[in-house]
Amino acid sequence: EGVTEMRLKVNGAVRTIQAEPRVTLLDALRERLDLTGTKKGCDHGQCGACTVLVDGKRVNSCLTLAVMAQGKEITTVEGLAKGEELHPLQQAFIDHDGFQCGYCTPGQLMSGVACLKEGHAKTDDSIREWMSGNLCRCGAYPNIVAAIRQVEQ
Ligand code: FES
Repeated sequence: EGVTEMRLKVNGAVRTIQAEPRVTLLDALRERLDLTGTKKGCDHGQCGACTVLVDGKRVNSCLTLAVMAQGKEITTVEGLAKGEELHPLQQAFIDHDGFQCGYCTPGQLMSGVACLKEGHAKTDDSIREWMSGNLCRCGAYPNIVAAIRQVEQ
């Protein structure tokens, strides 16, 4: 299988990589662009650790081919803070202890950002429903819901 050139716009910067067409967005981010904030959990669309935004919509980057993300705005956890200033949801995760081991946190944050943006953060139930694809082995769910609620209010 041949290698092809891809141009990916990640967190506002266009970057060019050489990769095989079958490379997932997750592997492109982590292994080609050194953006290791996005985590690989299951690699099969079942844990949400790899969640990023593509044109503002959340996707499992393990199920997305990097070639298909060309020409779109990709946002990873590294793109949330503005310089030294944390994204309000990042601050809320700190305020509410929204993580323990932290492995799922980047995916939780990206899903949470989409939850807020798309209007699913009005009630705890709708937050839980929206966030149900993001697994947390430590069981930080109540604190994650509380963090999202804080930003919504
Ligand atoms: Fe993509 Fe688990 S690594 S959903």
